Amino acid sequence: MLSIIIHGGAWDIPDGDVESHRQGVLNALTIGWKTLIDGGSAVDAVEQAIRSMEDDETFDAGYGSHLNQLGEVELDASIMDGKKIRCGAVAVVHAIKNPITLARKVMDESEHILLVGEGAERFAAEHKIKLCKPDDLINKRERERWEALQGRKDFKTKDSFHKQKRSSDTVGAVAMDKNNNICAGTSTGGTLNKYPGRVGDSPLIGCGTYADNEVGGVSTTGWGEAMIKVVMAKTVIDLMEANGGKPQEAAEKGIEILRRKADGFGGVIVLNNQGQFGISFNTPRMARAYMNSVMNEPFAAI
Ligand code: GLY
Repeated sequence: MLSIIIHGGAWDIPDGDVESHRQGVLNALTIGWKTLIDGGSAVDAVEQAIRSMEDDETFDAGYGSHLNQLGEVELDASIMDGKKIRCGAVAVVHAIKNPITLARKVMDESEHILLVGEGAERFAAEHKIKLCKPDDLINKRERERWEALQGRKDFKTKDSFHKQKRSSDTVGAVAMDKNNNICAGTSTGGTLNKYPGRVGDSPLIGCGTYADNEVGGVSTTGWGEAMIKVVMAKTVIDLMEANGGKPQEAAEKGIEILRRKADGFGGVIVLNNQGQFGISFNTPRMARAYMNSVMNEPFAAI
């Protein structure tokens, strides 16, 4: 069974940004789906799909990511191959255009799982991943957003996230390939005006990303601090294992736990080991798309 599901953030996406989000997730889906159709692995499909969203300034990942309190981009990403629960992740990188590719490199070619900051960039250089200038990751929209916030003291709580419609455009993908191997990945610029060095859920295996061929795969988006508290991705995997493999039920229960225990908000995409999907979110909108071998055409919604 070939199957792929994508997310491009869960928040109060303004009407004027709906179309760019729809196009962005559909584009990622098309790239990932073609990779699977051409015989590529689930890991290839997830990497390629996420790279396209990192390159798309619509999303808070790669180019166009939110700036931290110092006006700098700091990127996080993770990837997990469900065949042997191998995984790799990077956090707080400033000079990498496609952190998902670096996360894959960590998974494939290092003895470690999570590399951060200078060490991650050193590893990138050693493995022929080109470093960019930190400013190459900053676009005009994010520079203006950041400038508008300076001097404000009311932008630090989760309530301000809702009231000010703070964006949560983390991206992610989960895929199953022709060998029924499952991979999940997630990439983000984190939260707007975050404290330098802040790490959210996305690069933490079990929080932002999880994949296990025996059960399925999960990627999350939303308020990372709450996601970490409930170990969101692995919680949803465990719920699905316990419920006999029902992805939608597991996704909904996961979001209910996020809300009840951590007062959190966000969204989750789920794929079970039969290539079936689950999606749940408790934000006004979530950018999402999916396709599998039994569908005639892709689905996308915001
Ligand atoms: N969910 C992404 C973050 O909080 O960094």
